[in-house]
Amino acid sequence: MDRIRIVGGNRLTGTIPISGAKNAALPLMIASLLTRETLTLDNVPRLADVAMLKRILGNHGVDCMVLGKRAGQNGMHGESIELRAGDIVDTLAPYDLVSRMRASFWVIGPLLARMGEAKVSLPGGCAIGTRPVDFFIDALKALGADIDIEAGYVLAKAPKGLRGARIVFPKVTVGATHVALMAASLAKGESVIENAACEPEIADLAACLNKMGARIAGAGTSTIRIEGVDRLGAARHSVMPDRIEAGTYAFAAAMTGGDVLLDAATAATMETPIEVLRRIGAEVTPTNAGIRVTRNGGAIAPVDVTTEPFPGFATDLQAQLMALVSRADGDSHIRETIFENRFMHVQELARLGADIHLDGQVATVRGVAKLKGAEVMATDLRASVSLVIAGLAAEGETVVNRVYHLDRGFERIEDKLGGLGAEIERLTG
Ligand code: UD1
Repeated sequence: MDRIRIVGGNRLTGTIPISGAKNAALPLMIASLLTRETLTLDNVPRLADVAMLKRILGNHGVDCMVLGKRAGQNGMHGESIELRAGDIVDTLAPYDLVSRMRASFWVIGPLLARMGEAKVSLPGGCAIGTRPVDFFIDALKALGADIDIEAGYVLAKAPKGLRGARIVFPKVTVGATHVALMAASLAKGESVIENAACEPEIADLAACLNKMGARIAGAGTSTIRIEGVDRLGAARHSVMPDRIEAGTYAFAAAMTGGDVLLDAATAATMETPIEVLRRIGAEVTPTNAGIRVTRNGGAIAPVDVTTEPFPGFATDLQAQLMALVSRADGDSHIRETIFENRFMHVQELARLGADIHLDGQVATVRGVAKLKGAEVMATDLRASVSLVIAGLAAEGETVVNRVYHLDRGFERIEDKLGGLGAEIERLTG
């Protein structure tokens, strides 16, 4: 298993390219199941989760072709891929594939809408809470599906097709909003999704679906209206920049000090983390090229932050924020409200010398003057990157084990951070 070795203490300076968003690329790829025609996606990040989803879609009969490099592109640009689900040969998504990545459960929406049936294993993914699928099931039932759960599989049937409905989510859910959006696009009649997730990745999926011929209005707000259509067709769409990757590197720069341009990051999708960075003492300037983050000297100010659905502070940045304020000048309080078990990084950050006290869903972080490098273990995707950030600011050597978590969601992290002057390398094997 690969490990990442970091020698901390270098300030980060320079330009870092921000990749296409994992959390947008996955639902966009899944949307290819909705049409027999070709969906072309640009700016697709090179990630283990994307490779896994290609395999899962291939199992349903989707042809996936990676287009060749174009003039002016280098290895830091995302891939362009063509996805073509001419015939869906299998509506079963088996346990051994779905259990590796939670988002692959989302194929249930398009398979059901297009084929009238789907059998999908209950999901796996990061171990950050129970993450049930009740909201998905209720939404698909509202659209007219019959659902049974048998031997770890969800069996969904709608032989006469789905029909438009009013779906009211009891809690904001990104995944079930994606699925409802895709399924309702091919349902008969109008659907309304209330208390829909407002995450920018939802708006990105809706924009692509509309290019494919869907009739969706209001995506990106809490009420989405969908006029179902009989069929969807070919389209070309570029995956939005990854606001979580951009936020992660912004926090890294704020922690080590330095001057970093997050190339292609979009400030409009990052207002809350930008505001938190400013409270901490970093200077953040949106530019035409992206977002510039600087911190020169000066202490890291402590902050109180609660994770919330968009536009609130993203749970996917919580671990990285905790690493940053572990060196603040005072006490910070971080409340996690989205997932009940998303503090696994706390004990690993403690190995580097962080002083963090957990009380239920609230972490109190007492800033320490310095962190010291150590051997640590990544436990999930966002937790692992928080250890990398902390290692960059720690004295001496930090080795992060189980790097496969990082590879699921961060493209070429050692190259990107190395390009900013960090001493970081991958130890293979
Ligand atoms: C997505 C993101 C993930 C992010 C999360 C919250 C992707 C691929 N993943 O995950 O990175 O951390 O949004 O922003 O986009 N819930 C239920 N029943 C359900 C569905 C969800 O109780 O049927 C609960 C979950 O346990 C959680 C909350 O709802 O407590 C929000 O989860 P959700 O927004 O659905 O997260 P994901 O879509 O899995």
